[in-house]
Amino acid sequence: MEPTRKATPIIIPVLVIVILFYCMPNAAAATFNVLDFGAKADGRTDSSKAFTSAWAQACASAQPASILVPKGRFLVGSTTFSGQCANKAISFEIQGTLVAPSDYNILANKGTWLLFEHVDGVSIRSGVLDGQGTILWDCKNSNDGSCPSGATTLEFTNSKNIVISGLTSMNSQMFHIVINACQNVKAQGITITADGNSPNTDGIHVQGSSDITILTSKIRTGDDCISIGPGTTNLWIENIACGPGHGISIGSLGKDENEAGVQNVTVKTVTLSGTQNGVRIKTWGRPSNSFVRDVIFQDATIVNAQNPIVIDQNYCPNNEGCPGQASGVKISDITYKNIHGTSATEVAVKFDCSSKNPCSGIKLEDLKLTYKNQAAQASCVHASGDALGLEQPQSCLS
Ligand SMILES: *[C@@H]1O[C@H](CO)[C@@H](O)[C@H](O)[C@H]1NC(C)=O
Repeated sequence: MEPTRKATPIIIPVLVIVILFYCMPNAAAATFNVLDFGAKADGRTDSSKAFTSAWAQACASAQPASILVPKGRFLVGSTTFSGQCANKAISFEIQGTLVAPSDYNILANKGTWLLFEHVDGVSIRSGVLDGQGTILWDCKNSNDGSCPSGATTLEFTNSKNIVISGLTSMNSQMFHIVINACQNVKAQGITITADGNSPNTDGIHVQGSSDITILTSKIRTGDDCISIGPGTTNLWIENIACGPGHGISIGSLGKDENEAGVQNVTVKTVTLSGTQNGVRIKTWGRPSNSFVRDVIFQDATIVNAQNPIVIDQNYCPNNEGCPGQASGVKISDITYKNIHGTSATEVAVKFDCSSKNPCSGIKLEDLKLTYKNQAAQASCVHASGDALGLEQPQSCLS
């Protein structure tokens, strides 16, 4: 007994040190640097394979893993990062820039540049994605009909527990960021830039997803800053600066007869400057079982938008497949609260709802929108609800 008792005070600290030594490196993330997989930071050498190989290792790692993209420009083609992975904490630490191929057809044929599918617990931190879309926009704007529609820059599909923070996306061919069929996604500190005349370059598009938060981001683009598609629930958008762009838009909805609705959306503390629309809900003028309900637009500053507040249920591009039909989309319980600013047109508030499914439960509270320093107008068709507080323009709700 005697020797054991004497040894105990020494054995315990030694054991602790040994345990720490073996456990600490495992607890820390394994890091995979794309340079170690053959990536070249020269902006010319195709580094796609290096990115896929680094992903394969990170995904197979039993421990949390991080993929490091150092400073420099990395040419990356259309790449898919697929799960399921062996761990639920993979982070992309991007210090440099990922550059799309300059020939737009290479990505356009794939439809997506960087695609994450079936992943759980992936985060993307900082970095720049340059979609090199300008030549495709020129092609589309020249309107000869022969250009491809282009690729989304970054898409998460069928994924959950995703964080995108501090990322910059520029010059996307088509949509910048798409969140499709995902659950629990947080995007914050995102910067999106594309020319005000770039077609279909939506900033962030969400559809078929729930529990999505988009915070503190700056979006300058040629289409919707944020667009919200069918099947979106529990979406929180706060502290967004948008413009140029088409504003923040729910829709287009109701293109299909059978379509999931949009429910529980909060848009708070946003500034929309020089945008086509401020806050919009848009549905096709054709039959559908879709709906939009429980939406709050609150604390918005709108500067010189063509349509600061708009519900348009008669969307029918090129008058194809819908003339004379009423939208089946039921819009209800939509609140506009503390919305101030200026309209570029006389009608600052326009509710053009469906004759078949009138808009109901619209609440206006403290609106102050002016046109050329005078009170702007409101226009209502098939829209009912209440107004309280400041009423500029005067409410037209029944
Ligand atoms: C609505 O969504 C928010 C998140 O944006 C969530 O916190 C809240 O619980 C949801 N409300 C309902 C009734 O589901």
